[in-house]
Amino acid sequence: MPNRFALVMSRIFHLSIVASLYIATSSAVNVSLLLSPSSGSQSLARTLVSFSLEQDRWPDWSGVHSRNEFTHSALSQYAELTGEPPKIRVGADSEDHTFWSPTVTINEDEFPPANTITPYPEATHITVGNEYYELSRFLPRGTHMTWGINLGADNVTNAVNMAKAIMRAFRSNTVKASGVILDLIEVGNEADIYNYTGLRPQNWTAEVYVPDWISVAGAAVEAAGIRGRYGPVSVQGAAFATQQFTPREIFDLGILDSKPGKAISQISQHQYSAVFCNGGDFPLTSFMSKSAVRGNLTGFKDDIAATHARGLTYVLGETNSIACHGAPGVSNTAGAALWTIDYTLQAATLGVKELFFHEGIGYKYNFFQPVALNRSTIDGSELDSPLASHIQPGYYGGLVINTFVGKTGSAKIVELDVDDENVAGYAAYEYGRLARAVFINLHSWLASNTGARPSVHIDLDFAFAKGAQSEANEFWSRKAVAKRLAIEHADDTENLKWAGQSYETNDARPKGRIVLERVVLSEGIDLRSTEAVLVEF
Ligand SMILES: *[C@@H]1O[C@H](CO)[C@@H](O)[C@H](O)[C@H]1NC(C)=O
Ligand SMILES: *[C@@H]1O[C@H](CO)[C@@H](O)[C@H](O)[C@H]1NC(C)=O
Ligand SMILES: *[C@@H]1O[C@H](CO)[C@@H](O)[C@H](O)[C@H]1NC(C)=O
Ligand SMILES: *[C@@H]1O[C@H](CO)[C@@H](O)[C@H](O)[C@H]1NC(C)=O
Ligand SMILES: *[C@@H]1O[C@H](CO)[C@@H](O)[C@H](O)[C@H]1NC(C)=O
Ligand SMILES: *[C@@H]1O[C@H](CO)[C@@H](O)[C@H](O)[C@H]1NC(C)=O
Repeated sequence: MPNRFALVMSRIFHLSIVASLYIATSSAVNVSLLLSPSSGSQSLARTLVSFSLEQDRWPDWSGVHSRNEFTHSALSQYAELTGEPPKIRVGADSEDHTFWSPTVTINEDEFPPANTITPYPEATHITVGNEYYELSRFLPRGTHMTWGINLGADNVTNAVNMAKAIMRAFRSNTVKASGVILDLIEVGNEADIYNYTGLRPQNWTAEVYVPDWISVAGAAVEAAGIRGRYGPVSVQGAAFATQQFTPREIFDLGILDSKPGKAISQISQHQYSAVFCNGGDFPLTSFMSKSAVRGNLTGFKDDIAATHARGLTYVLGETNSIACHGAPGVSNTAGAALWTIDYTLQAATLGVKELFFHEGIGYKYNFFQPVALNRSTIDGSELDSPLASHIQPGYYGGLVINTFVGKTGSAKIVELDVDDENVAGYAAYEYGRLARAVFINLHSWLASNTGARPSVHIDLDFAFAKGAQSEANEFWSRKAVAKRLAIEHADDTENLKWAGQSYETNDARPKGRIVLERVVLSEGIDLRSTEAVLVEF
């Protein structure tokens, strides 16, 4: 008897510990999903996750004598998930410091000295020749591109030379044979802050910008033989940094009625959630926040609506977490991968067609580093031995998003109502039927946290039409499968896994066994802090 009593007591003791841990660490939410998309759904482009590359070191990304295998592989992994490689825009800050020369073969760059805040500064002067643009042939077949043209220098001759060189490259047999396609030219990067960057006087306004842009872009568009917004090549407008000038403002100033303006098919704005140009301390937790993600995007609604009202597409043509190449401990972490998922999908629900994540050699916020680095991206210190090409955590965010987007090109997105301040959820529909859902738990679990890691239990409910009992029974009995983005800590910079696999390999190809979890829909799913899960119905 005493033995039996001891056994019972120990069971009770054990159970109570389990129960109290459960109460201390877990919460639950009910999430309701419609089987068909609601009227506010938005289309998901297969190229939702696209990239913007800093123009100065473009040959490092593409490869010079042969393709950069790491770039090609990293982009191809994304293409396998959606059926189309990410779009590539080459331009940004160095776009307005680039000059074409008949005597340069590829490029000659002048770089300022590096420092601890900016270990890999942008070139201040870039001279390019014809072969520079022909390197486009090294991207994966089917890649669509946007190329930047210098407006900053206010030199029509140079803008025309650049436009002609770009067109000549894409008419060449090698580029044509590669299946890489030029969609757009962009004349001027972040022209709204030219008075800040010193490219125009302090009294620079949108009223002065519009005729200035028309005079330079007009000549470039003419030289390129671009005839209107229906392509094959057309013009990307705005590309503004802040909301100092807005698309609505330049529409009102009549930009779209001008000759080059009539060739604008797409409007681009840029967005960063913070700025590291002079350093600073940014808490990772400020990024792992549903309300901060939404707060950084809702301000674009009016411009998106005004753009769509004119029949033009709208993109965030340059974006990432923190301007000036990212901040250490934030942009290069696993937490930023989760931020990327929520930020991108939230933008998609607002009608943003694509987000071009800005990348440069050695930048902290890169999804991947395509060449070996000799200096630390964090503080610029010399590395003992070069750090080989590798992916960074943000890359996993793109894998989750592209799996969510899927391959049909018909997917639509709806945000789910998740009554938890840290958990975001989205549903994807294919041909009008619920296909996938993704949940992102932004609650941060840091390396310094101890004890039990909190988790949220998500109970799913599906809305069926009245009397659709057999449909309901069929749905509930489906064999749903989950894939998880597993992260040890939000502030980790490596060791993430997507569906059991690591992409931290020397060729960006996954290694390890794929892990799929069987989901019993009536039982719901658990989602730990700092984790994302994708359910395929
Ligand atoms: C979820 O829904 C069930 C059934 O309607 C209800 O009993 C439960 O309290 C709900 N849970 C939460 C967290 O709202
Ligand atoms: C404009 O560009 C052309 C061609 O590169 C160059 O010859 C000329 O000097 C430039 N003009 C000015 C004012 O810099
Ligand atoms: C640039 O112009 C804007 C108004 O368009 C003004 O608010 C800002 O202070 C100016 N910046 C500089 C550095 O002159
Ligand atoms: C702006 O300032 C420049 C010189 O800094 C001057 O030449 C120009 O006339 C000014 N423009 C306007 C519209 O005031
Ligand atoms: C934008 O995001 C940053 C970092 O996540 C956050 O600190 C800031 O408050 C957000 N801004 C708005 C307007 O929500
Ligand atoms: C690293 O150093 C090597 C050897 O000097 C050089 O070829 C390479 O371009 C450097 N890498 C970067 C990213 O600057």
